[in-house]
Amino acid sequence: MNNIPNNNHRGGWGSRLGFVLAAAGSAVGLGNIWGFPTAVAQNGGGGFVLVYILCILLVALPVMLAEMVIGRAGERNPVGAMKHLKPGTPWYWIGVLGVVTGFVILSFYSVIAGWTVYYFIQAAGGALVVPEGVEDTAGYFGGLFGEMIANPGYEILFVAIFMLMTILIVAAGVRKGIERAVKIMMPMLAILLLALILRSVTLDGAGEGVRFYLIPNIEALNARAVTLALGQAFFSMSLGMGVMITYGSYLSKDECLPSSAGYVVATDSIIAILAGLIVFPVIFFMVAAHGVPLENLVAAGAGLVFVVFPQIMGELPGGDAATVLFGSAFFLLLVLAALTSAVSLLEVVVAHFVDDWKLPRKKAAWSAGVIIFFLAIPSALSFGAVGWLSEGGLLGISVFDLLYTLTFQIFLPLGALGLALFVGWGWGLEHASEEIRHSTPDFRLEKAWHIMIRYVAPVAIIVILLNQIHAILFG
Ligand code: PHE
Repeated sequence: MNNIPNNNHRGGWGSRLGFVLAAAGSAVGLGNIWGFPTAVAQNGGGGFVLVYILCILLVALPVMLAEMVIGRAGERNPVGAMKHLKPGTPWYWIGVLGVVTGFVILSFYSVIAGWTVYYFIQAAGGALVVPEGVEDTAGYFGGLFGEMIANPGYEILFVAIFMLMTILIVAAGVRKGIERAVKIMMPMLAILLLALILRSVTLDGAGEGVRFYLIPNIEALNARAVTLALGQAFFSMSLGMGVMITYGSYLSKDECLPSSAGYVVATDSIIAILAGLIVFPVIFFMVAAHGVPLENLVAAGAGLVFVVFPQIMGELPGGDAATVLFGSAFFLLLVLAALTSAVSLLEVVVAHFVDDWKLPRKKAAWSAGVIIFFLAIPSALSFGAVGWLSEGGLLGISVFDLLYTLTFQIFLPLGALGLALFVGWGWGLEHASEEIRHSTPDFRLEKAWHIMIRYVAPVAIIVILLNQIHAILFG
């Protein structure tokens, strides 16, 4: 696109690998390791996995490519890019929604991320080892979680530590901060993941766990599960708020976009599916060893990682050393996954401040980061520490659940719908294709992509959004 003024002074990736790793780092997060296996367990095992894969191919992958195209053509953050591509029209409000969504997601994401840092330190320090003479391990480790959420000071301290790491990486810049960080963290993440899988699948009862995970139970598949699968796909792939627009805006004009989108989607899906191979064998080990009913474990939902998991780690074969090793590896994996995602959330907000408000990057990163830290405090306190912020309080549900539901079920799908409509109808497929063909003259799936982005994705998202709004209003 020669007619677009070059906006290169904003900085950019040193290589395509850097871009793909950063985008995959954004996508691979708590949503994969904590969210996906839980969603599978609660929605009929392998059947859910199949629906999820369909959602990815028909909706998420086309939207991923659309975001990257908007970013590279617009050479700006979501707001600036849309203003640049379609000046004088209201389309940029989709970008505004994206930046707001970034703020909100990071404010509650950093709370869970803070827990992972806390648990990593605890696990490395031997806290997951069952103390001599303690019979009731459930009570003991339930205590670790209870202790943490009952100690608002701790929780807030760990959110602060996590936000500080995020701010430092983003403030250092795209190449020197984000790219350098993901080039170290993503290989570490892959190694930890593989080591943990090896440990898990060789536990007693592992085979049963894997079978439960992967064999489809079609009866458990209902409209609700399909809705969840799409929401999960957007959240897990970081779609619908302009992360991929922002990261794509730092990409050179000669890199192939469709294959980049393909790599990111494949990495994210593979890691989500692999994460189940850590989680389910461990759950079935617990079932086999203690006769705990499977339903109880599955119903633990979000508590699985922070309550059930730590209980099991103390009982893994190999003694205390094995517990420390497995426990710290598992929580370090979560810290790394969360950090590379948080960096992308903050980067969307920072890029907006830098491009459109002309703030220097460091100032933008620090001010946005500190504001988000303060916004995180109500979420951190909404697990019982402060009654009126928690479940059954002023709002009925906890602040955390409210923000999570709002972004996961409404803002991200709405944003993705807006982006699909923008490319399919607003900005136009000719322009989008031109941008892709610039670096990929033989874009073979062009026709299919056009149909997906113009018709299939918008219709699917609208149906699902209506279903969700109905579920939220009428239970
Ligand atoms: N994709 C991240 C995860 O799986 C979460 C995320 C959502 C990050 C939206 C950025 C934008 O945990």
